[in-house]
Amino acid sequence: MPPSGLEGVVAGRTGICTVDGAAGRLVYRGIAIQELAAQSHFEEVVYLLWYGELPTRSQLENLKQQLAAERALPPGVEAMLRGFPRTARPMDVLRTAVSALGIWDPDTGDNSPAANERKAVRLTARIPTLIAAFHALRRGRPPVAPRTDLSLAAHCLYLLHGEEPTPTAARSFDIALILHADHEFNASTFAARVTVGTLSDMYAAITSGIGALAGPLHGGANEGVMRMLQEIRSVSEVEAYIKEKLARREKIMGFGHRVYKTTDPRAAALKEMARSLTVEAGQTRLYEISERIERVMWEEKQLHANVDFYSATVYHVLGIPIDLFTPVFAISRISGWTAHVMEQLADNRLIRPRAEYVGPDNVPYVPIEQRG
Ligand SMILES: CC(C)(COP(=O)(O)OP(=O)(O)OC[C@H]1O[C@@H](n2cnc3c(N)ncnc32)[C@H](O)[C@@H]1OP(=O)(O)O)[C@@H](O)C(=O)NCCC(=O)NCCS
Repeated sequence: MPPSGLEGVVAGRTGICTVDGAAGRLVYRGIAIQELAAQSHFEEVVYLLWYGELPTRSQLENLKQQLAAERALPPGVEAMLRGFPRTARPMDVLRTAVSALGIWDPDTGDNSPAANERKAVRLTARIPTLIAAFHALRRGRPPVAPRTDLSLAAHCLYLLHGEEPTPTAARSFDIALILHADHEFNASTFAARVTVGTLSDMYAAITSGIGALAGPLHGGANEGVMRMLQEIRSVSEVEAYIKEKLARREKIMGFGHRVYKTTDPRAAALKEMARSLTVEAGQTRLYEISERIERVMWEEKQLHANVDFYSATVYHVLGIPIDLFTPVFAISRISGWTAHVMEQLADNRLIRPRAEYVGPDNVPYVPIEQRG
């Protein structure tokens, strides 16, 4: 019998990123995630994922300029956003609007490497603008006009809040983007690769990826984490709250992982960031509740926190509304998705596995008038 959920199946080859679940190690193009989080910044990581090595100063400058120059939305897409109901779920808006971006992109149907690089730049530059524009419109405000003089991380926070972030906020968000950028054959990346493996196009692939990211077992978990943290009013309530949920066989969002059987290195980095940001913001209760949940989950289920657990607190302290947490994940993961799409196309073969058939056989066709 095939493993349920393709667990442990090696479904292809990649040179972009690998996860060692036993050692709790994550590397992008051979470089450990901790080193990148400590020393790099998001635009440099984007270059690394797309081109396979760290950029020279001029290569980096060039990419930064391209990413800054492509931030504005095509007017047709902004008009679409204005037509969406204010109550629409931001992940639905993002999925639909990213698909629409392809309609206004002259390179959509061109799968050449040069056209795909241009599309990867546009998608990475425009996803933050899309999310922030919808957020402004649903609050009855005009979207903040994009600027070209801020880093991608600082610019995202600027678009969301209408004012420049503090250096600490910008750097924290930048590190969060680095930590979420790629993760091997996770569900959304695999969905993107399957889609482009039919030789469709990058926009179709990214639309598939966003659809897969939205679910609570994948990127949607970070929103569930924050809702849980808000339901629990104090540290003393944690144990009973978690035990009751587990007794009802409910999943606790932000825990467990298909690949990591030890600490998720992204969670470790985000935990430290959540600690320092909550101290600075005077919101230590959130962090204390989180730590207690982590302890109870270990005692009860021997499960570790994953990337979505402490990122929820980080985003909350940075003033990001809960229903934008998963779209914010996409702001980062677009770099990995596009890298995988380009890698898939560079050596493509249709991804078409088989299924073990467990349905009936030799069933006679009964005409409708004879059916009971
Ligand atoms: C990430 C996840 C989907 C991995 O799923 P998986 O590899 O298919 O693991 P399973 O769902 O089969 O879980 C294995 C066992 O651990 C339990 N488990 C796993 N994650 C759990 C969680 N977050 N809370 C409670 N129990 C959990 C399952 O109930 C199951 O127990 P059982 O064998 O007694 O039935 C899963 O851990 C999960 O649903 N986590 C919560 C959602 C989340 O945080 N997603 C973000 C991932 S980065």
